[in-house]
Amino acid sequence: MAIERTLSIIKPDATKRNLTGKINAKFEDAGLRIIAQKRIQLTKDQAGEFYAVHKERPFYDELCEFMASAPVVAQVLEGEGAIAKNREVMGATNPADAEAGTIRAEFAESVGENSVHGSDAPDTAADEIAYFFSGLELVG
Ligand code: CMP
Repeated sequence: MAIERTLSIIKPDATKRNLTGKINAKFEDAGLRIIAQKRIQLTKDQAGEFYAVHKERPFYDELCEFMASAPVVAQVLEGEGAIAKNREVMGATNPADAEAGTIRAEFAESVGENSVHGSDAPDTAADEIAYFFSGLELVG
């Protein structure tokens, strides 16, 4: 399987509860390497731009408010099949449907406050990584 890179975001509900290290351990235990990472405070407009694909969804405004409500940790994960592997480690979007042992099963509070985001495909991974990081910041 090819080595891939994917964008991960540790969301405000998790940074507020000081879960960054516990979530990073899940990635590393699964063989994903954190090759870039920064803690930042998004504005609501920046969150809206990142999630523009969801603009027409009823939860869009709530999602943007939430993502700007506290710091997030943006990171790039690298590894074999990293996009799918990260989605396995995260678990289903709704924590009620997430498999035991996944990040969302263990830590997420609700479908909206679900602790982590991960890119869903190679083209979105490339766009999402470029939203947060320059090439110089990716140290594999
Ligand atoms: P994420 O993987 O970051 O991609 C889009 C986000 O929208 C998703 O995780 C959830 O946090 C959020 N989301 C999806 N469905 C709902 C919903 N029904 N209500 C509130 N937020 C949602």
